[in-house]
Amino acid sequence: MNILLLGSGGREHALAWKIKQSPKIDKLYIAPGNAGTAEIGVNVAIPATDFEALKKFALGHGISMVVVGPEDPLVKGIYDFFKEDMDLMHIPVIGPSLRGAQIEGSKDFAKAFMMRHHIPTAKYKSVAKNNLSDGIEFLKTMTAPYVLKADGLAAGKGVLIIDNQEKAEKELKNMLNGSFGKAGEIVVIEEFLSGVECSVFVMTDGRNYKILPEAKDYKRIGEGDTGLNTGGMGAVSPVPFVDKEFMKKVEERIIIPTIEGLKEENIDYKGFIFIGLIKVKNEPMVIEYNCRMGDPETEVVMLRIQSDFVDLLEGVACGNLSDKELIFNEQSAVTVMLVSGGYPGNYEKGKKIDGLQNVKNSILFHAGTIEKGNNILTNGGRVIAVSSYGKNKDEAMNQSFKNVEIINFEGKYYRKDIGMDLWI
Ligand code: AMP
Ligand code: GLY
Repeated sequence: MNILLLGSGGREHALAWKIKQSPKIDKLYIAPGNAGTAEIGVNVAIPATDFEALKKFALGHGISMVVVGPEDPLVKGIYDFFKEDMDLMHIPVIGPSLRGAQIEGSKDFAKAFMMRHHIPTAKYKSVAKNNLSDGIEFLKTMTAPYVLKADGLAAGKGVLIIDNQEKAEKELKNMLNGSFGKAGEIVVIEEFLSGVECSVFVMTDGRNYKILPEAKDYKRIGEGDTGLNTGGMGAVSPVPFVDKEFMKKVEERIIIPTIEGLKEENIDYKGFIFIGLIKVKNEPMVIEYNCRMGDPETEVVMLRIQSDFVDLLEGVACGNLSDKELIFNEQSAVTVMLVSGGYPGNYEKGKKIDGLQNVKNSILFHAGTIEKGNNILTNGGRVIAVSSYGKNKDEAMNQSFKNVEIINFEGKYYRKDIGMDLWI
């Protein structure tokens, strides 16, 4: 079959890598893709949110499945666009409906959903301009630090953690007055939770589900989790502190009620659910939902799936996921992200990347790259994810760090402590 994959980051390169291994695939197209996806499929110069252009392309190229990488097209309703169009309705979209994507598109929706289905999460209050005084009262009932979240999509930058009440009150007012644009018209004030974080991924056809390998990502730019938040500087799977007992709690208290909740509320959901978790005194609590896979988590999760991924995607599309087999690769996987100097602040693009062909025993997933003539140039903040297998975490980690040295471009930066806070 021919698959159209949407997106252009390391996550999409990793999905493309895994999809391409399936004997079921004929042609793989990636819109818009990057220099890495161009090596394993055909890039198509269409933005992932240009639905009309994607329609024309899909109909003209015998596409029989659309796999959506990023949240934007999902929150903008690509699933519904295909489902409601007479010409497109036969093409399944892997990703939730517009209503389902609200679990990521609106933090207020996600919190209310968790409350309705008794899913463990931090105490909260949603505040808009018309109930600002309630918000200020709520802040007074909490202790520092204070967590403020813009309700809407804010490219991973919508969460503020503030150490005193006066500043939190001021910031709350700023947000409601537009410091985060429309995304901050509603602000979710949350109780601060303290613990270790991990990401759990679920694939669902709306009724059945499979739990994919878990991962831990490293969000801050600086070693020891310091400095600004980024899209993600590296990831590790499996996660040593996620044991069987913890996963059982996650499944019983979070995954099952989430799937059942979506079903009860008649929310069409055929895709991935990314559950951002925090382990508080050995108990899992939900920090956030995303309606897609994580980046850079996908750059390790795909390495740890042994089964035919297209077969699993067909299970999602056809509603028979329970008949499909998900086998894990029991090795460890670690990815280290190479980023442009200055990221996540200002950075330059267009730097020539050298050494890619000398890398051995790692898998390179391009995040922000572009091909120009015979050269591959940097084209984003996050540039390349260096992923490796190992019989344990340390072996995978060392392999990635070895190859990180071989790739060069002006301003190259990476975190040297990915995986080092985890034992085993
Ligand atoms: P989010 O965009 O919701 O994933 O939040 C980004 C990061 O902020 C999370 O990965 C956590 O590290 C932190 N965070 C979010 N909510 C809370 C909370 N209630 N308590 C503590 N940390 C939080
Ligand atoms: N790695 C976090 C995310 O994809 O949102």
